[in-house]
Amino acid sequence: MSRRVQRVLAAGICVLGGVAAPTFAQSTLSLQAQVGKKLFFDTNLSASQKMSCATCHDPGNHYAQSNTLSVQLGGPTLTTPGFRAVPTLTYKEYTPPYNDNAANPDGVSTNSPGGGFTWSGRADTLAQQAAIPLLSSFEMANTNAAAVVQVVQNASYAGLFQQAYSADVFSNTQTAFTDIGLALQQYQLEDSSFHPFNSKFDYYAQQELSNGQVVTLTASELAGFNVFTDAKRGNCFACHYSGPMTGGGQYMFTDFTYEAIGVPRNPNIPANATRIGLPAYYDLGLCTAVNPDPQNAYVIPHMLPGSASLCGMFKVPTLRNTATRKVFFHNGIFNSLAQVLSWYNTRDTNPAAWYPTVKGVVQKFNDMPAAYQANIDPQVPLDGLPVGGAPHMTAQDLQNLQCFLETLTDGYVAGVTPEDPNCAH
Ligand code: HEC
Ligand code: HEC
Repeated sequence: MSRRVQRVLAAGICVLGGVAAPTFAQSTLSLQAQVGKKLFFDTNLSASQKMSCATCHDPGNHYAQSNTLSVQLGGPTLTTPGFRAVPTLTYKEYTPPYNDNAANPDGVSTNSPGGGFTWSGRADTLAQQAAIPLLSSFEMANTNAAAVVQVVQNASYAGLFQQAYSADVFSNTQTAFTDIGLALQQYQLEDSSFHPFNSKFDYYAQQELSNGQVVTLTASELAGFNVFTDAKRGNCFACHYSGPMTGGGQYMFTDFTYEAIGVPRNPNIPANATRIGLPAYYDLGLCTAVNPDPQNAYVIPHMLPGSASLCGMFKVPTLRNTATRKVFFHNGIFNSLAQVLSWYNTRDTNPAAWYPTVKGVVQKFNDMPAAYQANIDPQVPLDGLPVGGAPHMTAQDLQNLQCFLETLTDGYVAGVTPEDPNCAH
C-alpha cells in the first residue's frame, strides 16, 4: 500500500517566495461572518447554556482544546463524555470536500480517500460540520434545528442575522439553520485568526520581517526540517505534505488523506471501558463514517463489511500549531509532542513501551480489531522494523524534529517570543 511517491525535498522550504497570501482573510468581516462570530461565542446555543464552539475550540489555544482531557464533557449538564480529541480549527480553508477517490494535492501520489471535516471526514464543508456539535447529545445537545433557530431568534444579534441573510429568514427553520452553519463557516474563512500565517516558519519561508527583524531558522530547526522530509528518517512529509497544493495553498502540513497508523488505545476514554457482557467499543474511523454528499459520485456510504479496508483510518491532521496541543491523535492518547515523535520512531522496534502486555504478549495496535490491522500504513517511519532493531531516527533527530515543529506555532514575534533553549543552535 505504499502508494505515495517517496520524494526528498520535492517542494520544501527551499522553494521560497512567489506565494500569494490566501484570499480568504479580510480585514473587516462581512455581515455573515460577523453573525458567525456571535454564534461561535454564544453559550446559549447549547442545552447547558454554558458551552459555545469556543469552549472546546479555544481561541487562546489556536482553536483547539485548552484542557488536557482526552475527550470533552458536553450534553445538557456538561457530564456526557465525547469520543474524540478536539482538532484545531486553524488552516481548514483549503480542505476539499470528502471523496473516496480524491486526487492527492501533491499532484503526484495516487488517488485515495481524502478531504472533509472531522477525524473521519463526515462533513463536506465547514457549514455542514457546524450542525454536528450543535445537535450532538454529548456536545451542545440542542434537541433539534428548531431549538437552535429559536435561540438565534431571541439573541441580541437576531437583527444582524436577518440583515445578513433575509428579513424573513426565521420563517423557515431549515433555511435559518442552514444559514447558521453558513455564518459559522464564513467567520472561520474570513477571520484571519483562523489562518494568520504568522509562525516563525512563515516569516522565514515568506522572507518577511517579524517585529522589524529578519527571521532565520536555527541549525537545529533546519536539521529538523531535513528529518521531516527525509524519506529514510522522518518521512513525515509523505502524509503531512507541506509543498504547494494543486487546489491552492501550500505549507498546510497535511495532504487531507486518511491513514491507519495504529495509535495505542486510550483507557481514559469512558467509551473504551470494559463492560462485562458487552462487546468492546472501537472507534473505527473512516469505515463507519457516513459521508453525505449525494452530488458526489465517488462518495459511497461507508458500511461494513464493504468498507472494511477503510477501518482504523483517520484524517492526517495539519501540524501547524501542533506543538501547542494538549492531547494528540484522534483519541487523545498522548499529552506531549515528544511522546508522539518517540512513538512514531519506536512503535515497531519497541512496541512494549507503547502497548500493554497481556500474558507475555504485547497487544500491538490494541485500538483496532485484529481483522483490520492489515490496513495499517507500512511507510517510514512506520514500516515494520524488527523488535529490538535500530529505529530510523536518532535521539538528536527527534530533538531537531521537535524544534522544527515548534516553528509552526502562530503568533511568533521576533525578539519577544521565547525561544526553546534546546533549539537555539
Ligand atoms: C464539546 C466540545 C466541542 C464543541 C462545543 C464544538 N466542537 Fe468542534 N469539534 C470537537 C471535536 C471532538 C471534533 C472532532 C470530531 C470528530 O472527529 O468526530 C470537532 C471537530 C470540528 C471541526 C472539524 C475540524 C477538522 O479538522 O476536520 C470543525 C470545523 C468544528 N469542530 C467546528 C465547531 C463549531 C463551529 C462549533 C460550534 C457550533 C463546534 N465545533 C463546537 C469538539 C467540539
Ligand atoms: C502514513 C502517513 C503518516 C506519516 C508518514 C506520518 N504521519 Fe503523523 N499522522 C498521520 C495520521 C493519519 C494522523 C492521525 C492519526 C490518528 O489520530 O489516529 C497523524 C497525526 C500526527 C500528529 C498528531 C496531531 C494532532 O492533531 O493530534 C502529529 C504531531 C504527527 N502526526 C506528526 C508526524 C511526524 C512528526 C511524522 C514524521 C516522523 C509523521 N507524523 C508521519 C499520518 C502520518
